[in-house]
Amino acid sequence: VLLLDFPAGEHYKTRETKQYLDEQLINARFERNGTIIAVGGGVVGDVAGFVAATYMRGVPYIQIPTTVIAQADSSIGGKTAVDYPQGKNLIGAFHHPHSVFIDTKTLCTLDGRNYRSGFIEIIKHGLIRDASLFSFIERNIDFILSHKDKQYPSIITAIMTKNCRIKNDIVAKDAKEQNLRKILNYGHTVGHAIEHLSGYSLFHGEAVAIGIAAEAYFSWKIGYLSESDYQKQLNLIKKTGLPLRIPDNISVDDIIDKMYVDKKARGSRPEFVLLQKIGKVKTFARGKTTTPVEEKELRSMLSALKKMK
Ligand code: GLY
Repeated sequence: VLLLDFPAGEHYKTRETKQYLDEQLINARFERNGTIIAVGGGVVGDVAGFVAATYMRGVPYIQIPTTVIAQADSSIGGKTAVDYPQGKNLIGAFHHPHSVFIDTKTLCTLDGRNYRSGFIEIIKHGLIRDASLFSFIERNIDFILSHKDKQYPSIITAIMTKNCRIKNDIVAKDAKEQNLRKILNYGHTVGHAIEHLSGYSLFHGEAVAIGIAAEAYFSWKIGYLSESDYQKQLNLIKKTGLPLRIPDNISVDDIIDKMYVDKKARGSRPEFVLLQKIGKVKTFARGKTTTPVEEKELRSMLSALKKMK
């Protein structure tokens, strides 16, 4: 076994880290019949997966995710990438792991911020696909956050199993994100912009929590979602200890620029996943799972959100 590591954090999800790993493999004469094992959080999984996707045109890899976000989301589905100064995940490949092994005991080693922020992706899976998962988390949020209660191992295993089945089912139906898989981006159009604008001082899950609060608000204001289903999302995000509001130092103009300008340059508009009710996304003409929102309308909704306390 050749053991390779790199410093933790989104700041290291770069082509320089990938180059370092590629070179270590080349120097060690790692061959095509080898297997890469990614042990760590989402950054490790995405970078190691991308190395596996390109090393000698592709070698197998196994995911052993150790954080909530990696166990719940990024280890499943074959998305691998590195970030660029211009944005997240801009260069990468679809390359599915041979297997994913999850041991929920590793979650007890996480600090509170890392632990809580990953939970938003599980909440998201409930919101887009399974109301019973959402209400199970609502009922058990105290155990989930306690980490230590006797019931914790069985509750977390039940949640993670249900969660992974949802994610796997979506990816199996639409691995290349033609339509259905896009529902996994609920909260991420605004969330990615905020994550980038915060200079990654917000964790991915924290920015996505703010993004879900915003996109739930759009779903309500545009008229697809009831106010009570909107409020339930805010309540659970709050109880999980995650942020809801757009940080003061990020302006509406910054968010619009980040979402629209990049897209306009490519001749498209940002698309949103909107909710119809908890457990179900709104679908549009011809079964499309996303919809564009006019810049003027978006600006006015974001401005209203910024004014909320
Ligand atoms: N994390 C979203 C996806 O795998 O498509």
